Amino acid sequence: MPRRNWNKVFVTGGTGFVGLRVLSALVETGADVTALVHPDHENRLGVLRRYVRVVYGDVWNAASLKGRARGHGVVVHMVGSLRAQPERGLTYRQLNLVSARNVIGMAVGDGVPYFVLLSAAHRPAGVPKEYLQSKREAEAYLHTSGLRWAIVRAPLIFDRTQPGGRFFAALSWIGALPLLRVFFGRRTPLPVDVVARGMARLALQPQPPADRVLYAGDLRRLGRVPRGWRPRVTVSRARTKRPNPNADEEDAPFGWLPPLPPEHP
Ligand SMILES: NC(=O)c1ccc[n+]([C@@H]2O[C@H](COP(=O)([O-])OP(=O)(O)OC[C@H]3O[C@@H](n4cnc5c(N)ncnc54)[C@H](OP(=O)(O)O)[C@@H]3O)[C@@H](O)[C@H]2O)c1
Repeated sequence: MPRRNWNKVFVTGGTGFVGLRVLSALVETGADVTALVHPDHENRLGVLRRYVRVVYGDVWNAASLKGRARGHGVVVHMVGSLRAQPERGLTYRQLNLVSARNVIGMAVGDGVPYFVLLSAAHRPAGVPKEYLQSKREAEAYLHTSGLRWAIVRAPLIFDRTQPGGRFFAALSWIGALPLLRVFFGRRTPLPVDVVARGMARLALQPQPPADRVLYAGDLRRLGRVPRGWRPRVTVSRARTKRPNPNADEEDAPFGWLPPLPPEHP
């Protein structure tokens, strides 16, 4: 039986908006992190490249994933998108379900016992129902995989430092107030740093926990910074931001649909 290291985390989607922050939170906690990246997108890791082990693979090609996660204690899967491009074959099913299915298959084949899936609590305005459907189908597939799992049904995620960040931070604060959170808590936007710390903590359990679905409130609790906590490694925030390929989009209101994903071969 292969030796497993619970502190050894295998991450997919680490080059994305949320993924970069999760990688950073894991590194700061002292985890031993492997990031699966598309060979053409390694540079998106920026400064984090120095702190993580990089392996190459394509989540849409099951054969390219074989053996990649051997010896890891957990897989954190964050590949997916709110925007489909059916003309390029990138349907919601392909983006959110097929990628998850292939990565879950890799975890099972490689003997990784625990799987954390970043899913969605609801369908943001303007996003077709197929998005949420594909997320729920990915969740259902994970349920039947035989792995221990944690499913994070995240609300809209925002960056406090981007335009509109203050507005979303105010919404987030209001939505967490005692009475309001009963009705709106699961749909209240969450800052990306809170989500990232929550995901990192969820991944770094000493033993795989009981299967569970987590919502915004759980992420808030897990994402709290313990008093007196000091990062093992300090990764500069500014340098973990994904480079923006289109400068004009800096002015876009936040909370939004993310920019179209870059071309994949
Ligand atoms: N952002 C939110 O508000 C929010 C809320 C709830 C749930 N979620 C879920 O959280 C996950 C991460 O979201 P995110 O905002 O960080 O997304 P993102 O920035 O678009 O990146 C997600 C990852 O998926 C890959 N990806 C996305 N579209 C792709 C495509 N067409 N072809 C190839 N790779 C693609 C990206 O890989 P490359 O970098 O290699 O292209 C990236 O590593 C998604 O599953 C999303 O559904 C997000």
